[in-house]
Formats: sequence, structure tokens, C-alpha cells
Amino acid sequence: MIPSTPAPQLMQAFVLKAYGGPELTVLGEVPVPKPGSRQLLVRVRAAGLNPVDFKTRRGDLRIVQRYRLPAVLGNELAGEVIARGDQVRRFGVGDRVFARVAKDRMGAFAQFAVVEEDHAALIPASLNFATAAAIPLAGLTALQVLRDELHVARGQRIFIPGGAGGVGSFAIQIAKHLGAQVATTASPRGEALVRQLGADIVIDYTQERPASVLSGFDGAFDLIGGDTLEQAFAIVQPGATVVSVAGMPEPQTALKDMGRGLGLQALFWVASFSLRRRARQRGARYRYPFMHPSGEDLSELARLVDDGAVKVIVDSVYPFERIADAMAKLESGRAKGKIVVTMPDTTGPTNHSVDGV
Ligand SMILES: NC(=O)c1ccc[n+]([C@@H]2O[C@H](COP(=O)([O-])OP(=O)(O)OC[C@H]3O[C@@H](n4cnc5c(N)ncnc54)[C@H](OP(=O)(O)O)[C@@H]3O)[C@@H](O)[C@H]2O)c1
Repeated sequence: MIPSTPAPQLMQAFVLKAYGGPELTVLGEVPVPKPGSRQLLVRVRAAGLNPVDFKTRRGDLRIVQRYRLPAVLGNELAGEVIARGDQVRRFGVGDRVFARVAKDRMGAFAQFAVVEEDHAALIPASLNFATAAAIPLAGLTALQVLRDELHVARGQRIFIPGGAGGVGSFAIQIAKHLGAQVATTASPRGEALVRQLGADIVIDYTQERPASVLSGFDGAFDLIGGDTLEQAFAIVQPGATVVSVAGMPEPQTALKDMGRGLGLQALFWVASFSLRRRARQRGARYRYPFMHPSGEDLSELARLVDDGAVKVIVDSVYPFERIADAMAKLESGRAKGKIVVTMPDTTGPTNHSVDGV
């Protein structure tokens, strides 16, 4: 490992003690992690929140990702490299980086975190840490779905229900950047935002069913699931793809996104049966991808933000000691854009010490 100023032994972190309610997460003191040979140790300056954080806490995702508890929560961050493994080539100590951390480790809600070299990118000089921390998970999801799953091209019409949230605020702008026309859904609370982001058609989902006004679309990117996802099949034309990141995983999710075997593919085959039947009836394709961490794709997003093609929408910024309030706000499902926490500069006193991390 190539160190700079030595990291302290202990750090403050937001720790999941057991699966369940918010009371099972605590701010406490845990050991600072050590980077491996292809990893960076990052002093976290800001971390973004995502629904995956409270879904993990509740244990909803245990079938796809099981963590040894207690574990430090948090999936995306921005900060400075303070040490690096001896095989790291692309980053030096002092670099400002942002990343979606490895899914099997998490750890972004802490003063220090380990990041794979391949998952990180340099933060453009025009962005502060809080804004950069809001980009990785939602931005990568939007970019990877629109580019790699829907292959969005100029002139296409794309339906993106749920445009006012973290993923939607990136997806509308990236789809517009790729030259598509975008229809989205929002409540009156989110309408002004989605219009400002470039949505061509906005349906107030509290008043109107999208399928009663939209038809013949070239693709759909669902962020809501349930009845909204069902309607997407009626809105696209035959031959189109309906992608959801909020519905049910399907066999390709296990195979392509998770590299898992027949057991999980069979489970997802059953879970997605009615959605795939709905797709077949329409002559459409149903796909549920998991986003993947990628430093290369993050650099692409950084360019889009730096060029002004994409604005990062931050709903609110909380100090790290109020992360429980930030999580509650996220879990209310009403955030407009992203929620971020910013870290204290030093390892100050903590509320509890947490054993076993
Ligand atoms: N598979 C993957 O790799 C992946 C990656 C990222 C995210 N996801 C999933 O994608 C989903 C969206 O994530 P997110 O970060 O965008 O969530 P989010 O930021 O929490 O979304 C909140 C927004 O959703 C809007 N909303 C709530 N109900 C709605 C409805 N029925 N119709 C339209 N808009 C509605 C809210 O607007 P109002 O307050 O105005 O209602 C709010 O602005 C989550 O389920 C998340 O877990 C999956």
C-alpha cells in the first residue's frame, strides 16, 4: 500500500446491526478499512443515499445480496484518495474521486471507504463533493439502461415514469441528450422539476392513467413498478423493450447482471412470469437489469455534467450526524432528485461503539 498522511485506526460510520427497522442502524465507531492492491482508500467528503440503502436495511435484497452483519451501509461517495494499493495505476494520493462502491461490500456512509480502482473516476473541477456524491448510482443506472438496454436513438419516443426522483432526474436529461422525446409521470410536487429537466409530456399520475393518453412509444424505462409498469406494456409499440428497475427481476437479471446459475434464474423466471407474458402478448420484451459500477461510465457522466448537458438535482444535504433523518426522508419516497450527507472533517466523538465490523 502507498500511504499519504496516515489514516486513523477508527472512524465514524453508519452501521447496520441487523435487518429490520430504522432503529437497527446506528452511528458508531468502527475500524478504518484497508485497501487491497487494486483499491483506493478514500477520505469520504460526501455520500449519496439511494432506495437500495433502506431496502438493504429491511433485508428486502437478501436473496440477491447477503451481508455479514454488522456492516457499514452506503453505496456511493465522493472524496479524496489518501492511500492506494501498489497495483493502482490511474489515481494518486490527493486525487478527488467519486464512485459507486462494490456491491458486496458497501461502506460509503463512513469517514473512510475502500473503492476499487476500476469503479472510480476523477471529479471535474466544476463540481463540489456533495454534487459529485449524488451522481454515481442513479446516474450510472440511467446511462446504462438508456444506452445499453434501450439503445435510445435520436427521434425515438421514450416513456420514463417516475421522472422526479434520483434516477428519473438523470434519465430524462440523458434521454433528451441522446435526442429522444420523453414522456414522464409526476405529481404536482414534481411537475416543475421534470419540465425544467426537459420532459416533453408530463402526466400527473395522481389524476390520469398514462396508458389512457400515451401509445406507440419506442421504449419504456420504469422507475415505479406495479400498475405503472403494467401500463408501460400498453404504451410501447410491438418490438419495443420495457425496462424496469423497480419491478420484478427476470432470468437475464440472474445470468447477465449477477453471473448466477440456474437456481436463481428459475426463481426469477417464476417471479417475472406474468410480466413476461404481458410482454409477449404485446410483442415486446421485458428486461430488469442491475446497474454495475464503472469508472469509465462515471467519467462519461462527469463529461456530461461538466459540459452542462446534465444537471445534478440535489433535493437536500444533511450533515452526517443526521443521516437517520436523511434516510427517513428518502424512505418517504418524496425526494426530488438526490439526498446527500456530508462528512465531518475529523474523527470526533461517536454515539455508540459497534463491535464486530
Ligand atoms: N436495479 C437497479 O440497478 C436500480 C438502480 C437504481 C434504482 N433502482 C430502483 O429504482 C427505483 C427508483 O429509484 P430512485 O432513486 O429514482 O427513487 P427516489 O429518488 O426515491 O424516487 C422518489 C420520487 O418518485 C416519485 N414517485 C413516487 N411514486 C410515484 C408514482 N407512482 N409515479 C411517479 N412518480 C412517483 C416521487 O414524486 P412525488 O413525491 O411527486 O410522488 C419522488 O420524486 C427504486 O425502486 C430503486 O430501488 C434500481
